Amino acid sequence: MNNVSSGDQIQTELGEGILTVRINRPEKKNALTVAMYGALADALQRGDGDPAVRVILLCGCDDCFTSGNDIADFINFPPTGPESPVLRFLTAIAGAEKPVMAAVSGSAVGVGTTLLLHCDLVYAADTALFQMPFVSLGLCPEAGSTLLLPQLMGHRRASELLLFGEPFSAARAEQLGIVTAVLPQGDLLRTVRAKALQLAAQPAAAVRLTKSLLKRDNAGKLLETAACEIRCFLERLASPEAGEALRAFMERRKPDFSQFD
Ligand code: COA
Repeated sequence: MNNVSSGDQIQTELGEGILTVRINRPEKKNALTVAMYGALADALQRGDGDPAVRVILLCGCDDCFTSGNDIADFINFPPTGPESPVLRFLTAIAGAEKPVMAAVSGSAVGVGTTLLLHCDLVYAADTALFQMPFVSLGLCPEAGSTLLLPQLMGHRRASELLLFGEPFSAARAEQLGIVTAVLPQGDLLRTVRAKALQLAAQPAAAVRLTKSLLKRDNAGKLLETAACEIRCFLERLASPEAGEALRAFMERRKPDFSQFD
């Protein structure tokens, strides 16, 4: 193993052709700040350009993959344009030429679930929980998910996940095609590492070509959808509904949307 950088909230480690990118802010359930998005974007871009890297593997902590945007940080430093760290991250993960794998343990909330739609292989612990509570927060979905979710599972299943924003299990995520396979929690990292090594041993150019062919049809539509979503998302962030939802989260109470129409 080499290139270990620890003690950070985004840790990277390169060994045997696998760049492991670990989200590590357990005290805040791996909520992602602007700085963390920047570090994730840098790690993905560097990994994609580094000939020593054949597979990129994203993971979190045992009890939390990520709880999504850090809500306070997001209110204070909302994204302003394509150079914003969150958008650099989404562009990097959606555009990576090398295979991106994810090992999901614990909660994957908001972008924690939508980022998985850009990964090539997603393995989840049987105890993992997924949730896309954008509507419940007065916001709207992002990361191209309004295109990718209906493609994956149909309009009605996507509507159920997005309009109610309720948590769903790893087994359901597998049924819906968000997850490649579900593994016992205790086996997750060992099995995913073995899969990553297997993939790293495949001929790299053929792997990259196959990935690009799989994604070719959608590329233009995805960029357009993600750009439209982010415009709407920023508008929603300034809406009274989102104000109430985000305040309620910080004040640990149930939001009350009854006064808005
Ligand atoms: N942003 C900021 N802080 C967050 C956070 C987020 N997205 N998710 C969790 N935290 C913080 C909590 O405020 C709490 O901080 P505190 O200890 O200083 O009070 C700490 O992380 C632990 O979270 P807690 O809610 O007590 O953990 P839990 O195990 O009961 O629940 C989650 C875990 C992930 C289900 C829950 O924290 C959650 O739903 N978070 C919000 C996720 C969300 O809405 N994300 C979408 C943003 S667009």
